[in-house]
Amino acid sequence: MTAAGLLLATSDPANVPRHVAIVMDGNGRWARKRFMPRFFGHEQGMETLLRVIDLFADRGVEYLTVFAFSSENWKRPDEEVSGLMNLVLIGVAKYLRKLATQGVRIRIVGDRSGVSHKLRAAWDEAELATASNTRIHLSVAFNYGGRWDIVQACQRAVRDGLRPDQVDESALAGRMALSFAPDPDLFIRTGGEMRISNFLLWQAAYSELYFSDCLWPDFGTTEVDAALAAYARRERRFGDVHAPEVVPQGA
Ligand code: FPP
Repeated sequence: MTAAGLLLATSDPANVPRHVAIVMDGNGRWARKRFMPRFFGHEQGMETLLRVIDLFADRGVEYLTVFAFSSENWKRPDEEVSGLMNLVLIGVAKYLRKLATQGVRIRIVGDRSGVSHKLRAAWDEAELATASNTRIHLSVAFNYGGRWDIVQACQRAVRDGLRPDQVDESALAGRMALSFAPDPDLFIRTGGEMRISNFLLWQAAYSELYFSDCLWPDFGTTEVDAALAAYARRERRFGDVHAPEVVPQGA
């Protein structure tokens, strides 16, 4: 595709992903390169997230889902775990008003039973304060794991009294943590690793995967636009060989 064709492709709203999911990896390495503690990297990662929400919203992305704390992150040193929990409280206190006025709707997805009362209260406050916003839906996956999500959806189906023959894909999809959102079109992982790491296992079945070497705190306008341009060039078939190839106008 020519440069002009690519510009046309990315400016066509039909080629903008509705839903972007991100594994925000590389905070620790970013801090280490600066001889700073890992928490410093997470703090910068939070600032980056704030900028990235706005960049994606400006480009027409409707849903953004970020992996902030995985079910496996409890295995990290106590100091780092409590640092990440504190960062949530700091983030809500510092940025909630700004996000609310920018039209961001916040939801927290994950196992709330595992986190403190104080943290749950902060999540509730963030969700309530932004409940009527529509510019972009931000889902923060916290104490989340893709396997946990599938298991909890099955448990809900059992609790709802479904018979085995009633348990189909739509019954489970409607009980998953992100049941309010379309499946992610674009799945980004920063930090150079090429893994899904138990994020959105169900929902990412047909997501386009995009891996960036950029460490999360450095992810900015250039990287956002590169990811969206790569997505615009992809041909999505959802398993169907007969699906028409999408040829962007001007290509
Ligand atoms: C992975 O990088 C990052 C995390 C486990 C935390 C992600 C958190 C943020 C970006 C801050 C925003 C936080 C909230 C609560 C919204 P890593 O620590 O594994 O980095 P490394 O691979 O370089 O060690």
